Amino acid sequence: MGTEKTRPLILITDDSDINRMILADMLEDDYDILEAESGKEAIRIVNEKRNAIDIILLDCVMPDMDGFEVLAELERNWAKEDIPVIMISAESDQSFIVKAYQLGALDYICRPFNAVIVRHRVDTIMRMHLKEQHLANVATSQIMDKHVNNHMMINILSSIVEFRNGESGQHILHVQNLTDMLMRELLRVTDKYPLTDDEMSMIPTVAALHDVGKISIPYHVLNKPGRFTEEEFNLMKTHTTIGYDMLTELPAYQKDPLIRMAGQVCRWHHERYDGKGYPDGLVGDEIPIAAQLVSIADVYDALTSERCYKEAYSHEKAMQMINNGECGTFNPILLQCLNNLGDKIPEMLDNSSAEEMFREDIYRIIENTLRAPQHRRQ
Ligand SMILES: [Fe+2]
Ligand SMILES: [Fe+2]
Repeated sequence: MGTEKTRPLILITDDSDINRMILADMLEDDYDILEAESGKEAIRIVNEKRNAIDIILLDCVMPDMDGFEVLAELERNWAKEDIPVIMISAESDQSFIVKAYQLGALDYICRPFNAVIVRHRVDTIMRMHLKEQHLANVATSQIMDKHVNNHMMINILSSIVEFRNGESGQHILHVQNLTDMLMRELLRVTDKYPLTDDEMSMIPTVAALHDVGKISIPYHVLNKPGRFTEEEFNLMKTHTTIGYDMLTELPAYQKDPLIRMAGQVCRWHHERYDGKGYPDGLVGDEIPIAAQLVSIADVYDALTSERCYKEAYSHEKAMQMINNGECGTFNPILLQCLNNLGDKIPEMLDNSSAEEMFREDIYRIIENTLRAPQHRRQ
């Protein structure tokens, strides 16, 4: 859908001019009509106007590409799921009818046909199709709304934690964006880590929560300018398991895929591919891919940002340190993805976006609230 057409559109495919004319005459009062005089022409039109066509009327016997081949081609292009096909043919042999149904035609009308019957069947299938499209649109927009709401709440929560962590206002946004870029590159270079559409939209969203467990770390430790003592470092490490517990112990949400994935990212974003990370010393792909993606994005942004204990390193220096294993060992495929993105990373992270402005607003509000005398830290 998405077009501004007012009448449904039917594509009539038949090699006979007269047959196309008869069908068009029957339907043109209520429908817009497109005509294809061959199977190949029909496929070309479908490829061009897939979202605009509501029904295909398809002749069975045609030279070059017959109706069955058209159905098979539509199947390959996924178009048949979106566009119902009614076959119209002089072949009344049952084997033709069975084959048409098997290849996904919704209906089969034998010639010579009764105009009233054709009209009724087209109207019925059109009604079903439009209703189905409407329901699909409603479901999609509900899912989108839910996603936007989740994303918004997660952004607010993570901004509050990030502010307290004393990290730059951009850290979480950068980790989200870089996680997203790495994930897309990963899917491009290998099929070793297949991700569903849902997972693809969840991974960058939950990346924002990776350090949410730091809410439990005392302020003076979080923002200590010098090196940690062993005891302080051990305390800092607990932000992984505490974040995980906070998210996954909520009984009502334990089965929610978003919460489960956020829990994994919290717990395992400091694991390393060689098993030398924490808290569990997971090795290789025991570490969920979402946590592996976030961990490399987190390290890159930590290196290239100023922190209370260090200055910001350049992109080149950060890449060199990561490649040399100075920040621990990462999955070689992810390192390859990071290197493939290369110089594009700083450019893409610097692009200011609506999201960045939203985050700056949240920061400003948190800052003003905490500066108010009644909220000043001791
Ligand atoms: Fe962390
Ligand atoms: Fe972080």
